[in-house]
Formats: sequence, structure tokens, C-alpha cells
Amino acid sequence: MPKLTYYGHSTFRLDAGGQVILIDPFISGNPSVPEGVNAETVEADVILLTHGHGDHLGDTVAIAKRTGCLVVAMHELAGWVADQGVERTHGMNLGGGYNFDFGRVTFTIAFHTNSVNDNGKMICMGVPNGLVIEADDKTFYHAGDTALFSDMQLIAKKWVLDVAALPIGDNYTMGPDDALMAAVWLKAATTVPIHYNTFPPIEVDVGAWANSVDTAGLGVNVMGKGEVLEY
Ligand code: NI
Ligand code: MN
Repeated sequence: MPKLTYYGHSTFRLDAGGQVILIDPFISGNPSVPEGVNAETVEADVILLTHGHGDHLGDTVAIAKRTGCLVVAMHELAGWVADQGVERTHGMNLGGGYNFDFGRVTFTIAFHTNSVNDNGKMICMGVPNGLVIEADDKTFYHAGDTALFSDMQLIAKKWVLDVAALPIGDNYTMGPDDALMAAVWLKAATTVPIHYNTFPPIEVDVGAWANSVDTAGLGVNVMGKGEVLEY
């Protein structure tokens, strides 16, 4: 049974397929990280990235150099991470899936941008992605940063989702109304809101949003920092 731990913002630790998987490990400077979790000691066998923005790439390079973990990212971003001295990277692209030791990862589309801050210079890294992670016979969709897009309905056609993590914070991604529509389309057993209330521009009423998802007849879990969801 996969065990999902919320580290705040869009960051999760996923224990699945016998491995520790970090998703978008924004730990240093993330005000929602649970006490005792820091980039110097966090464990990882694999890091999965949705894009290169600082609040997603986060501590990837430092964690990968210390742990020797595998970093899975969009082709251009994987190349940039390798250029920073990370030894094990795996590039992917939209629509592609790959069977890793812990399970299968598919890169889904996300409507957003993808860049890294390389010593103060912004470099574009191709397009961003969402993640569908199939492990231990369960399926988790992490939407990354994205606008609402109607092809989310294809994701629900292809996979029966146990968990969907959707950005709701508005301004940089879809806001609560669009995220409700996404949740309705995706029909996950449990929908988890992410990318909200971390910074002033993305402050929303998460309780009201959770009520709207519940009213739509869907399972919703507003995970607190450090909270664990077994699915
Ligand atoms: Ni972003
Ligand atoms: Mn973001």
C-alpha cells in the first residue's frame, strides 16, 4: 500500500514499490515543511519533477548529490540537472511512460511554463509535465503546476485514479473553481489540494474548496504538513 506524506506546497514523499520517492522536493524555504524534515537529511531513492521553477526543483541537486538518487525530469531539465553534477538522471517527455524499479511513471501534459534560475539567469526548460505514478497496483496523479485543460478527461479515461493532487492556489495555476472542475473530471477516490497558501499570491479558502468537492460527491483530503495518506 503506497504511503504518501505531504511536505507542503506541491512536495510529497511517496513510499511505494519498496522505494522512497520525492516529488518536487521544495524543502529549503518551504514554510509548510514539517519539523525535522530538511534537505541535509531527507532520504530519497528517486526524485520526480514536474518542472524547474524554484518551488518545485527546490533542493533536487543537493539531495541527488548527497544520496545518489535518480532524478526523473523533462528531457531538457534532466540535462540541466546532469550539468549541475548529478550522476543519475532520466529524461522523459509528454505522453511517455517508463517502468522504473518502483513502478511506472507517465508524463502527462500540463499548461504552465518551465524554466530554471541558473545563477540569476532564467533558462527555459521545454514544457512542464504532470505525473501519473503507478505503483503497488495503485495510481497517483500529481498535476504539477497547470491551468485547467479539458484533456484531463482523457487521464480519467485511461486510469482509475486512487489519488489526484491538484493545484488550487490561483494566480500561477488554476484556482479553486477550475480545480473543482478538474476534480470532477478526474474522479479520483481522493483529491488532495496542493500549491495554495504557501505565499500571499496563492492564498485561498481551502476549507470552502474542500466543501465544494465534497458536495460534488467526491472524496477530498486537505492534508496537513507531515500528514500521511495510505491509499
Ligand atoms: Ni511553476
Ligand atoms: Mn509552482
